[in-house]
Amino acid sequence: MKVETKYEEIGYDFLLKILKSIIKFLSKIVGFFKKFEHKIRFQKFKLIFGDRDDDIYISTYPKSGTTLTQVILYCLTTDGKMDFNHIYDVSPWIRNASFLREKPVDIPSPRIIKTHDEYKDFSKDFKGKIIYVYREGMDVAVSQYNQQKNYNNPDLEFDSFLKVFLKSKKWFNHLKLWMENKNQFSILYVKYEDLLNDKKKEIDRIIKFCGIKCSEMAIKRALKYSSFEYMKKHENKFGDQPPESKRVFNEFIRKGKSGEGKHKFSDAQKKEFDGIFKKTLKNVQIK
Ligand code: A3P
Repeated sequence: MKVETKYEEIGYDFLLKILKSIIKFLSKIVGFFKKFEHKIRFQKFKLIFGDRDDDIYISTYPKSGTTLTQVILYCLTTDGKMDFNHIYDVSPWIRNASFLREKPVDIPSPRIIKTHDEYKDFSKDFKGKIIYVYREGMDVAVSQYNQQKNYNNPDLEFDSFLKVFLKSKKWFNHLKLWMENKNQFSILYVKYEDLLNDKKKEIDRIIKFCGIKCSEMAIKRALKYSSFEYMKKHENKFGDQPPESKRVFNEFIRKGKSGEGKHKFSDAQKKEFDGIFKKTLKNVQIK
C-alpha cells in the first residue's frame, strides 16, 4: 500500500512537471507571436505617423527624466499654454500609442516625440534630431522600483527588483549603444543631474542644438512649467494613467532628486552594479 502511494506521488510529480513545462513552452510561443504582432502594428503606425526631418526625439531609459524634458521642449517650441489634457497629446510616445491601438496624433512641426527604444530600433537613415537624456543608474533603479511598486505591485521588495534589474543589464546596454552612436545620428546628450543643477544652461544647449528660435518668455515658461513643484501639482497631465481601479498609488512625479540610489543600495549591490558598469561600458566614452 505504502509503496503504491509513493509511486502515485512520483507519478503526480512527474505529470505536474511535464504540465508546467508545456505551459511554459506555450506561453513562450504566445509571447513570441504577441511581440511579432506589436512589431507589425508599430510599423503600420509609423507609416501613418511618418518621419519628418525636423522631428525631435527624446530618447531615454525609463525613469531618467523623459517627461521633464518633454515639458521643456514643448514650452520652447509652442505657445506653452499647458492647456493639454495629457503630455502625450502634444508630445506622443508613439510606441505606447501603437501598443494601445491609438491613432497617431496630428501635431505641428517640430514634433517632440518620446521614446525608450533601443538604439537598433532606429533606422540607419533616420534624419531627425535626438536628445538622449541619461541619469545615474542607481537612481534609475530606485525610481523604477518605486514606479513598479506604486503602480502594479505593492509587495515588491527592492532586493528582488534589483536582482532582475542587474541581471537583465538593460540599463547598461541602453546607455552603451546610445553613447556609441555607431550610425552617427545627430544626438545631444543631456544628464538628468545637470537639469537639476543648472536647468537654464541645459535649456540653452537644447535651443542651440535644435536650432529653435524662441523668445525669452518661452525660456521662462520652460523653467517654470518644468519645475518639480509645477509638475507634481499637475501630475495627472504627465504620468501614465492606468484605470483608477488598477492604480495602487499615483506617484509618477515622485521625488525628483539625485543620489537616492547610493543610500538604498547595499555595499554588495553597489559592487555588483559597478562591476557590470565597468564591464559593459569599458570602452565607451560617456558624453
Ligand atoms: P524619481 O522617481 O526619482 O522621483 P521619466 O519621466 O523618465 O519617467 O522620469 C521620472 C523621474 O523624473 C522621476 O524620478 C520623477 O520624479 C522625475 N521628475 C519628473 N518631473 C521632474 C521635474 N520637473 N524635476 C525633477 N525631476 C522630475
